[in-house]
Amino acid sequence: MGKIKCAVVGVGNCFAGLVQGIEYYKKNPEQQVIGVMSPEVGGYSIHDLDFVAGFDVDSKKVNKPLSEAVYAKPNKVKWVESLSTMNDVNVLQSPQLDGVGSYVEKVVTPVPEKPIEELKEAIVKELKEKNVEILVSYLPVGSDNATKFWAQVCLDSNVAFVNCMPSFIASVPEWAKKFEDAGLPIIGDDIKGQVGATIVHRTMAKLADRRGTKIEKTYQINVGGNTDFLCMKEQDRLTSKRISKTESVQSQLNQRLPDDQIYVGPSDFIPFLGNTKLMFMRIEGKMWANIPYNMEVRLEVDDKANSAGIVIDAIRYCKIALDKKIAGPLIGPSAWLMKHPPKQFSDDEAQRMAKEFAE
Ligand SMILES: NC(=O)c1ccc[n+]([C@@H]2O[C@H](COP(=O)([O-])OP(=O)(O)OC[C@H]3O[C@@H](n4cnc5c(N)ncnc54)[C@H](O)[C@@H]3O)[C@@H](O)[C@H]2O)c1
Repeated sequence: MGKIKCAVVGVGNCFAGLVQGIEYYKKNPEQQVIGVMSPEVGGYSIHDLDFVAGFDVDSKKVNKPLSEAVYAKPNKVKWVESLSTMNDVNVLQSPQLDGVGSYVEKVVTPVPEKPIEELKEAIVKELKEKNVEILVSYLPVGSDNATKFWAQVCLDSNVAFVNCMPSFIASVPEWAKKFEDAGLPIIGDDIKGQVGATIVHRTMAKLADRRGTKIEKTYQINVGGNTDFLCMKEQDRLTSKRISKTESVQSQLNQRLPDDQIYVGPSDFIPFLGNTKLMFMRIEGKMWANIPYNMEVRLEVDDKANSAGIVIDAIRYCKIALDKKIAGPLIGPSAWLMKHPPKQFSDDEAQRMAKEFAE
């Protein structure tokens, strides 16, 4: 089927989890299908991804080989010792735009800024020279301006876009149309976890709803100890993340809950948790004869394995769209794989649509 030429912006923990996971399966072929949601998507295997370009702002990563930058602090993923089969490309500088965040400044030191036009020229050149087909964005939460910059870079460089973070592009009609007009596919926004807080909360809420109970209130609290959680301590950067996570649950209910009866959000940074994410979810409601019930779920999961297990499919769905010359937001795959897609469906329906799309 050929390789899928990809680039990444944001060489952080999520990207480290994606490429180290691929390497892990390469080194342990007998494990090939354990933990892999889709061994093949449209004929593409997990080994068909080829990262040929990378962009970041951190001085520990810029101008370093991508295969080394993946291990640079504050990244914490170290599932394999090295990425021996990865391309020897250097990470190039991305503009900061929104800044890295007041808490993250303590662990990420950006390289000195250059004029944005100069950076953009070098970025577009790199994408074209490397024949990049798909750009994956792992920018930090709150990077609204950087996300728009990179969406425009995709349009200007004829590159498809997989937006894994919660600044909205695929789900904004004007941006969706720009991609459609440019003949480019886009999948977004905000990647779901393989068995993550959102999919578990959606599933339990849908179950309670389908069984005829009335959900009266619900919350989901998340804590973790990586840079993503450190960044999310800054409430001002969190607006779209909260919308993304809350709407993902609301969309599964027959009747929306009043805004003050649902709380979904990243809640705190606990340094020693590292990439372990803890989710605490509670649903309270009424069943037959107005009798009350409640349920609580505690999920403990590696946050980065959780995202990589889904991004590996998103990239391949995007490649199928390129092959089939399908442009604009990919409705089924986005609904299946993303928290804030252009259109929400039940997870069963979204999976069916994504499968049909691939076939
Ligand atoms: N389960 C998950 O991990 C999950 C789920 C959904 C969404 N996400 C989102 O994915 C994104 C990436 O998460 P992560 O854990 O890899 O974060 P991270 O903080 O580990 O990595 C972010 C990377 O982006 C770089 N960066 C900062 N500003 C930049 C800029 N302007 N241009 C280019 N690079 C820049 C940082 O130096 C760092 O390397 C976050 O927005 C996160 O919320 C993660």
